[in-house]
Amino acid sequence: MGTFLITGATSGIGRAVALRLAEEGHDVIGVGRDEARGEEIEAVSARITFMACDLSRPDDIEAMMDELKDRVITLDGLFNNAATFGRPGTPERLPASTFDDVFELNVRAVNRLIQRALPLLADGASVVNNAAIVGHVKFPPMLGPYAASKAAVIALTKTFAHRMKGKVRFNAVCFGPVDTPLSHKLYGGEAKFHEAMTHHFRGYAAKPDEVAPVVTFLLSEASSYINGQAITVDGGYTLS
Ligand SMILES: NC(=O)c1ccc[n+]([C@@H]2O[C@H](COP(=O)([O-])OP(=O)(O)OC[C@H]3O[C@@H](n4cnc5c(N)ncnc54)[C@H](OP(=O)(O)O)[C@@H]3O)[C@@H](O)[C@H]2O)c1
Repeated sequence: MGTFLITGATSGIGRAVALRLAEEGHDVIGVGRDEARGEEIEAVSARITFMACDLSRPDDIEAMMDELKDRVITLDGLFNNAATFGRPGTPERLPASTFDDVFELNVRAVNRLIQRALPLLADGASVVNNAAIVGHVKFPPMLGPYAASKAAVIALTKTFAHRMKGKVRFNAVCFGPVDTPLSHKLYGGEAKFHEAMTHHFRGYAAKPDEVAPVVTFLLSEASSYINGQAITVDGGYTLS
């Protein structure tokens, strides 16, 4: 059994992945900012340890990774999952500062975590980065910085995969719409989100539990020959 570091483990996709790994018998270090939701996932499984960290703050990342190093933790995998949509807006008028917030969390924090995690990762470990179909095959006009950040995540994934030559594997997952608080907010609430999803290719968005197995597979030995890929998991959404 292994030890996995999962960012954004207090909600949505990250929470589902953390719980699934714990159910499989792995130890999970789940990262997020919300202490109450952190305590909640610890209560669900004794295998999950919550670490509070604001990943948009480089000093917080350094402190968290220093603590893991001091505890002589060996990691079998890392799921870089926490991200923000930033402020939606027309690309002609978006202030440059919106790129700063989005890139700090969605790209720079991912890069920082990978760099700090590398010395702690076991041979054959796996890193999965949560990108999106937005930034891969779909580019909604109001989400420019988010799409650009996810395209950057895919480039970073392939760069590290090339560099590490399989000693540590790197893959990106590109989900279509998933039923989480993040997407509800984007659509102006849960009801509006579900209404919009009736037009989805399948008529509904994925539940976090429906996509989590893809991540746990990519984190596992079972996917040992998959490396440097951006894998779309969207229920056929991008066909239409
Ligand atoms: N939902 C979708 O339709 C969809 C589609 C494609 C890709 N994705 C990607 O999936 C990933 C997860 O999204 P989700 O839909 O599961 O969203 P979610 O339910 O809102 O969860 C986001 C998680 O990120 C954490 N987080 C946010 N900002 C953070 C920060 N500054 N520092 C530390 N943790 C932070 C949150 O924890 P705290 O609140 O505790 O900080 C939370 O656990 C994102 O990368 C997103 O781009 C989502």
